[in-house]
Amino acid sequence: MSITVSSVTPDFAAEIYDVDLAAPLADADFAAIASAFWQYAVLIFPEQNISQQQQLAFAERFGPIERERTLDPKATPSRFDGAFADISNLTAEGRIWAADSRQRMYKAGNKLWHTDSSFKKLPSLTSLLYASTTVPIGGHTEFADQRAAYDALGDGEKKQLEGLVAEHWIVTSRKRSGFSDFNQDEQRRLPPVPQMLVRTIPQSKRKSLFVASHAGRIFGMPDEEGRALIDRLIDHATQRQFVYTHRWRANELVMWDNRCTMHRGTDYDDLRWVRDMRRVTVSDIANTCDQAGVVHTA
Ligand code: OGA
Ligand code: MN
Repeated sequence: MSITVSSVTPDFAAEIYDVDLAAPLADADFAAIASAFWQYAVLIFPEQNISQQQQLAFAERFGPIERERTLDPKATPSRFDGAFADISNLTAEGRIWAADSRQRMYKAGNKLWHTDSSFKKLPSLTSLLYASTTVPIGGHTEFADQRAAYDALGDGEKKQLEGLVAEHWIVTSRKRSGFSDFNQDEQRRLPPVPQMLVRTIPQSKRKSLFVASHAGRIFGMPDEEGRALIDRLIDHATQRQFVYTHRWRANELVMWDNRCTMHRGTDYDDLRWVRDMRRVTVSDIANTCDQAGVVHTA
């Protein structure tokens, strides 16, 4: 039996049925999943019971896995090693985190609209997030389609954005969410990087905005003006008509295309309920300026 693709929205989110990600995936099934992925950008796999190894094996079909941790494990220990980002509200020992814990302060940044790893020189292609335990109220993940947002811009605006390069920096988004406590090692490993403001997705040939709360300024523009443009684009791209809200069920895997979507987590009572999620992140093929053939000098 081959996989079933069931659209949740006309062209942004789809559910995938008739596949067991705990078993080896036939090439034809992988090809069908990949093709749905390039078309939609958010895929949901309900009722999967997968181990870390199985999640990783599926992710690896899409490309190389990010293994470098953002936070220094000495300053912020985690339940997982480098291939897995812990998206739960649990400490390394598996207990609900404390109100003033470093993990909690840092992860509050996930509630701002962002795309994963755009603050790395080599950004991400896709993230695959698996939910073991979900919460009864809140704790949704919202996704915004940056291709549809680009399409909806006027011709004049599209022209204005052509060739622009933004600076993405983890410090920018964390400053906005109230975390400024990066240590020397973290600051050295995570310098600001350039990314195109508009990119073309090779598989679909669709153009997409590429903004995130990590973006702080635009090269060649006064800081204030660049900042205002980034804020305006994020506001534009996250209007209701571009957004799909995912309400998690336990044992569900969701993967999204970090090249052409933004996402954010919604609030929940994180000091009361366990929300147990783990993420594997796949790297893109190159920095967005290199992919576009734009020579960037900061
Ligand atoms: C992520 C993320 C938001 C959430 O996993 O990259 O931003 O809803 N998650 O937990
Ligand atoms: Mn994220």
